[in-house]
Amino acid sequence: VKWSDKERAIISSIFASLDYEDVGPKALSRCLIVYPWTQRYFGAFGNLSNAAAIMGNPKIAAHGVKVLHGLDRALKNMDNIVETYAELSILHSETLHVDPDNFKLLADCLTIVIAARMGSSFTPDTQLAFQKFLAVVVSALGKQYC
Ligand code: HEM
Repeated sequence: VKWSDKERAIISSIFASLDYEDVGPKALSRCLIVYPWTQRYFGAFGNLSNAAAIMGNPKIAAHGVKVLHGLDRALKNMDNIVETYAELSILHSETLHVDPDNFKLLADCLTIVIAARMGSSFTPDTQLAFQKFLAVVVSALGKQYC
């Protein structure tokens, strides 16, 4: 994957102003609510019985923050995302048995939450760069499944 200077600048600036504690929980909750089959992997996380329970669940919130910090690793290793995520990919496939289609669903929920927060500064160029970044992340996380 090749990154232009402009793409690197856009992606860095999104993360520089990112409120992890707000965006992480919102993105993961949204995924669990909109795509309820993704809840199956979080059986040990307590009450997920309805949208309010999911949004108020502290374990889900904490995990949402953790996932965003997982993305930091891709940001810091943009030229080497596949290797950076090799171990995390193995964890999700061999240990957690997460269907890799779900990576894209969570990535889309994250895009929605970030776009909603950024408002008019989420320009088409921003969307393009961010979705490219997430597509590379999703692909890297799926790499160890074959
Ligand atoms: C664990 C990142 C997508 C389910 C984790 C961890 C990270 C992470 C950093 C912690 C690993 C550790 O403790 O060493 C990501 C990223 C994703 C992603 C960056 C995509 C953007 C998903 C999806 C699901 C999922 C889509 C399920 C629908 C889980 C589960 C755990 C986990 C069940 C273990 C949680 C626990 O028991 O503490 N993920 N993840 N992940 N992930 Fe993901």
